[in-house]
Amino acid sequence: MVSRVIPVEPFDLVIFGGTGDLARRKILPGLYRRFLSGQMPPEARIIGAARTDQDDAAFRNFVGAAIKEFVPKNRCDPKAIDRFLAQISYITVDVRGDKGWNTLAKMIRSDVVQAFYFSVGPGLFGDIATRLNDYKIATPLSRIVVEKPFGRDLTSAKELNAVLAASFEEQQIYRIDHYLGKETVQNLMAVRFANVLFEPLWNAQYIDHVQITVAETVGVGGRGGYYDKSGAMRDMVQNHLMQLLCLTAMEPPAQFEPDAMRDEKLKVIRALDPVDASDIVRGQYGGDPSYLDDCENPASLTESYIALKVDISNWRWKGTPFYLRTGKRLKGRMSEIVVHFKETPHSIFDDDAGRHANILSIRLQPDEGIDLRVTIKEPGPGGMRLVDVPLDMTFADALGPEAKDVPDAYERLIMDVIRGNQTLFMRGDEVEAAWAWTDPIIERWQARRDKPKTYEAGSSGPEDALMLLHKDHRRWREIKA
Ligand SMILES: NC(=O)c1ccc[n+]([C@@H]2O[C@H](COP(=O)([O-])OP(=O)(O)OC[C@H]3O[C@@H](n4cnc5c(N)ncnc54)[C@H](OP(=O)(O)O)[C@@H]3O)[C@@H](O)[C@H]2O)c1
Repeated sequence: MVSRVIPVEPFDLVIFGGTGDLARRKILPGLYRRFLSGQMPPEARIIGAARTDQDDAAFRNFVGAAIKEFVPKNRCDPKAIDRFLAQISYITVDVRGDKGWNTLAKMIRSDVVQAFYFSVGPGLFGDIATRLNDYKIATPLSRIVVEKPFGRDLTSAKELNAVLAASFEEQQIYRIDHYLGKETVQNLMAVRFANVLFEPLWNAQYIDHVQITVAETVGVGGRGGYYDKSGAMRDMVQNHLMQLLCLTAMEPPAQFEPDAMRDEKLKVIRALDPVDASDIVRGQYGGDPSYLDDCENPASLTESYIALKVDISNWRWKGTPFYLRTGKRLKGRMSEIVVHFKETPHSIFDDDAGRHANILSIRLQPDEGIDLRVTIKEPGPGGMRLVDVPLDMTFADALGPEAKDVPDAYERLIMDVIRGNQTLFMRGDEVEAAWAWTDPIIERWQARRDKPKTYEAGSSGPEDALMLLHKDHRRWREIKA
């Protein structure tokens, strides 16, 4: 299979926070990979911007080192890296002051696409948006890319939306959620909407429940101070898990087109029921160091783990719960959406055959892919014994080795920005609706001073989370080490 590379127009991409961690690990190596794929025209320019005083050569050294660290060795061709670096420059800018802005204004071309990536702390988003406008850098061709977190509650998200809206139209604002850039997430759309097999079954009549898991093995480590003000609900559920839930639950949009998709996702969020306190389990990892050690706050009430049962009140989903869970320092690293179909209404086989149900799992990581468990007869003589086997749709196996080289979510999303395609980005009203659902849950914990349960580091989370499903006669999928 030969992949098709769609070239993009020339562009100026300014990365505010170009010297930061996200730029180093994701954005710059991702751009290099797109360059290698022939998607960066020679006239395109990438400009790093931050307060650090350095020249182009020093920044190019930084970018070259980032590529060598984060791009597989077999793709690090020194000549290609040099050609890529020749398209990169640096400017010293203080986004809170005046330094650098006039120079930046002279550098940016007004007749090509201009993209401004806000890879800085969220406290600076408003400063950048305002100055891009005040210094007359922004044009109708400009796009801004805003990183997470997008607010910490409904009020702050509304304020941030208002600040951005003062300088940019909604169709110029790209709120990034890198989960949406993952190949498998888009494949979920293909599986659902390009096959006739699944859609008739995709409802409460045939689906028993859905499990969405994002499990991490790492703790909050060096970012404990930041994380302690946030917690798993704000950091993961309000954005990433919510987006995965929306894509699983939404109605088919009329077209695969930004506003049609986002309208359908918004309807799902608005149909979410408030969650009962008894349907939520919060946890903090123990061990050495424990969560409390990592966040250096022995009295912290912030959760590093959360599991919750979410009901959607609409015709399609009434009666089919979505169980979400995410946590740090767990047994394994995995992200998946798992659709558990109902058992057949009646079994024609004897009791020894057992009861079976189809399971569709969509793995986001580690090895991206989709598999469908179907029940067949166990081969051999000795009666009718049934066994569940996977119909594996792992991309690399089905599509050849090239499919293994899936672009990282960031590189795809950055190219979507340049192409002006907002399908995989969140709209302002979507983010606000997600906070409107999240806020009362968090406020209730705060009012009660709810204390998270301690769980063992390296485990599957708190015992109570198992009970959340047991009481509904269901079980979580195993988190594999
Ligand atoms: N790192 C990740 O994996 C990750 C993942 C998801 C989302 N994010 C989000 O991405 C954003 C950036 O995160 P990060 O981890 O890259 O942060 P970081 O490593 O702390 O980098 C921050 C960047 O902002 C620059 N900066 C700070 N103040 C500035 C100012 N007044 N004017 C101009 N530049 C300034 C810094 O450079 P100077 O000190 O040289 O100015 C640095 O380049 C944050 O919103 C974060 O929440 C990060």
